[in-house]
Amino acid sequence: MLKPKTDKRLSKDELVELNRTYVFYSWSIQEQVDPISIVSGKGITFWDHDGKQYMDFSAQLMNLNIGYQHPKVIAAIQEQAAKLCAAHPNMAHEPKALLGEMIAEITPGDLNKVFYTLGGAEANENAIKFARLFTGRQKILARYISYHGATYGAITLSGDYRRLPVEPGIPGVIHVFDPYCYRCAFGHTFETCHRECVTHIEKVIEYEGPKAIAALLMEGVTGSNGILVPPDDYWPRLREITQKYDILLISDEVMSGFGRTGAWFAVNHWDVIPDIMTIAKGLTSGYLPLGAVVVSDAIASYFDTRMLYMGLTYFGHPMSCAAAIATLKVYSEENLIENSTNMGIVLGEGLEEIKQKHTIVGDVRYIGLFSVIELVKDRETKEPLQAGLMSEIKSNLLAEGLTTFVNKNMIFICPPLCINQEELSIGLQIIDRTVGRVESLT
Ligand SMILES: Cc1ncc(COP(=O)(O)O)c(C=O)c1O
Repeated sequence: MLKPKTDKRLSKDELVELNRTYVFYSWSIQEQVDPISIVSGKGITFWDHDGKQYMDFSAQLMNLNIGYQHPKVIAAIQEQAAKLCAAHPNMAHEPKALLGEMIAEITPGDLNKVFYTLGGAEANENAIKFARLFTGRQKILARYISYHGATYGAITLSGDYRRLPVEPGIPGVIHVFDPYCYRCAFGHTFETCHRECVTHIEKVIEYEGPKAIAALLMEGVTGSNGILVPPDDYWPRLREITQKYDILLISDEVMSGFGRTGAWFAVNHWDVIPDIMTIAKGLTSGYLPLGAVVVSDAIASYFDTRMLYMGLTYFGHPMSCAAAIATLKVYSEENLIENSTNMGIVLGEGLEEIKQKHTIVGDVRYIGLFSVIELVKDRETKEPLQAGLMSEIKSNLLAEGLTTFVNKNMIFICPPLCINQEELSIGLQIIDRTVGRVESLT
């Protein structure tokens, strides 16, 4: 009979070893991985196998927005499991329909029809299929400092280092520069900026041929590559340009959506209505896998009389949709979007103080509870802080009981949206102490 080799509780070392032997770790050199063995959680806190407690300042990977083990979402999953665990993708069922209606309500403008996926990458894959089928054009513009998922199309859209080993990827993707004001690709400062990050996109459109371009796809606010909050006129101007050339605008809100930035979706900050939005992560807060492409009425009605060449076995999975309905209710009942705005103000002030205190802090960027500290060797040259010192930061934070995403020379601070002021200030003190300790080593 097939069953796990042991039903005894594994020790931490046994568990890690078993994982290492049989399961890959993503984006890692396998021998170098030193995982935390997570066992349980509550609110913004989780515990490992040895009972050590951690504050989670990256909401797992910026998806666990409502916090760990919310009883209402657990109950909704249990209820749905007792009723119906699986359904053919084309069957009509309540969770799928009710959730679709809720998503149409919270997404801006006429983004009213949903194509479900299992996560963010699949959402972006299908978003570009929508764009290509609807426009009959092939080219997609995306940005360099971006991440849109690991599947072939999504990684081709992504501009970051993870694209290079799997090139050439899919044809027809062209990258443009980003609104990275701290390290402007055009060499400008706030004083000299003419929004070259916008105007050059129009040039690229002209050179690539507007009639060949299906869409411009961008993260609402760049996430894992450094919380690049664009200037206020950035999204509105790109909306204007895409309308001028009749190109679709796609907002990837996989990470920046569901209150992360203090609004349901990042584009809400600038009153922009894209033609297509992709969502995942915070949709279920990571409790079960689910993503979606949400499209405008014009795109939706195009497929009323034409074949939709898309499908997934787990489309509109009843369990995931039930979890998402319960999650969306939690956002609303517990005012988590407002809390993200309010705690975001406290967070921003805390980050500015940390920047004042420590010369190795080059820049801090924040919007809602989506923020980053960028560390440098030297404020003048902006040379990134050495990798060895960044590892030191990571292990110091862990030793103090705080986990977060540390990428290149950046510490991300993106806790669950249910965080309160006391928890936030404890976490910021830990980060402040750690940055100070590492600064003294430079
Ligand atoms: C902006 C963005 N888009 C897409 C994805 C891919 O989502 P998934 O890992 O669910 O495929 C991510 C993942 O981090 C993301 O941050």
